[in-house]
Amino acid sequence: MSAVVVIGTQWGDEGKGKITDYLANQADVIVRHQGGPNAGHTVVVGEQEYKLHLVPSGIFCPGKMCVIGNGVVIDPEILVRELDYLKDLGVDVSNLRLSPGAHLIFPYHVIQDRLDEDRKGLLRLGTTGRGVGPAYMDKFARIGLRLMDLLDPEIFRSLFVPLCEHKSHMLEKVYGAERVDADALVDHYLSYGDRLRPYVADTVRLVNDALDEGQHVLFEGAQGTLLDVDHGSYPYVTSSYPTAGGACIGAGVGPTRIDRVIGVAKAYTTRVGDGPLPSELKDDIGEAIRTRGHEFGTSTGRPRRVGWLDTVILRYSARVNGLGGLAVTRLDTLGGFDPVKICTGYRYKGERIADFPSSITALAECEPILEEMEGWAAEFPPAETEADLPKACREYLKRVEELTNCRISMVSIGRERTQTLALEPIF
Ligand code: IMP
Ligand code: MG
Repeated sequence: MSAVVVIGTQWGDEGKGKITDYLANQADVIVRHQGGPNAGHTVVVGEQEYKLHLVPSGIFCPGKMCVIGNGVVIDPEILVRELDYLKDLGVDVSNLRLSPGAHLIFPYHVIQDRLDEDRKGLLRLGTTGRGVGPAYMDKFARIGLRLMDLLDPEIFRSLFVPLCEHKSHMLEKVYGAERVDADALVDHYLSYGDRLRPYVADTVRLVNDALDEGQHVLFEGAQGTLLDVDHGSYPYVTSSYPTAGGACIGAGVGPTRIDRVIGVAKAYTTRVGDGPLPSELKDDIGEAIRTRGHEFGTSTGRPRRVGWLDTVILRYSARVNGLGGLAVTRLDTLGGFDPVKICTGYRYKGERIADFPSSITALAECEPILEEMEGWAAEFPPAETEADLPKACREYLKRVEELTNCRISMVSIGRERTQTLALEPIF
């Protein structure tokens, strides 16, 4: 295997940062290919916990090439801050490479994101407020600016000033927003351009050359399948392609080059933001899992909504991503809950359904059909192989395999790097 895509099978926050950090050790190149600073990846190395929004989690593996592909939207201010944060902590960032084709997020995108949400009131999406949606809107409207535009002061000024004035005018007319001072912003952003210039490279070439040479390339998805703009729970989605296909478009590699897709699934379900969540626990158990698992958004600090593991979603995810294995995380967090429950199907208008409904109104009416299983102890024993896992936990994993028809390739049983187990070779 030389090209492996890691994606989230649920609504994001499945623990992809931890799984990619583990696999990055076996990879030569690690690529972020979609999303933007809405993502929040937590990686624990020894005593230190790192929170990343844009830089690939592979940055903690010395000597590996880390790429931000064309499909990502970059907020230059956040990226520069993240580079400073990593450097301050002694992390070497010299192997970062940025696609010149990545679109940029500017202050007017952030303002628009928040004002659009306010206007929607109860119908808001609960976005991260980072300007990601409006930046992708501009990309598809073909008026976006890309990293390459920031590298030449003349070009940038000539493109940015009229665009920023137009945006500002629109926001003022529609929302009564304060005008953004385009001229004042130009120099500011050019200084970010100076900081980022050394990292800009032909990343499409870099990734394809690596594959030609038989190197291991890891594509690190952000968000999750149900937040995919095409295949997720629309309109409660993000504006990019967190499904596996997004790796090809967002990095510039052909689909024939992808060898395997690993789907990361938390042992229960969480969702931050609005929209239906059929297996949601609105009781003490949900509260207890949230507290035990520190289920608060990495980017926004919002409490995450919690529910039992939903295998309707996992079966759907397996289908739209072509999953070749599951990585189940947070088995330790679920320890101490007895019984544990698994959602095996939905009841919709009195009928049992096994497939994820395409309509969001139908999804909102679905009741989970739950199966009870024996739980395992809160104190998770140290484990190096599958056989070391508590018996009830192994039974739970076996049932997940049966219900999803997808093999479990990896498990995570704690925060430490050493608490990730590969049950089979991934690369
Ligand atoms: P946006 O991506 O900020 O536009 O937000 C759209 C939806 O995606 C909201 O429900 C967010 O909470 C959710 N979302 C975006 N990024 C992430 C993430 O990295 N993890 C979990 N949810 C996310
Ligand atoms: Mg996250």
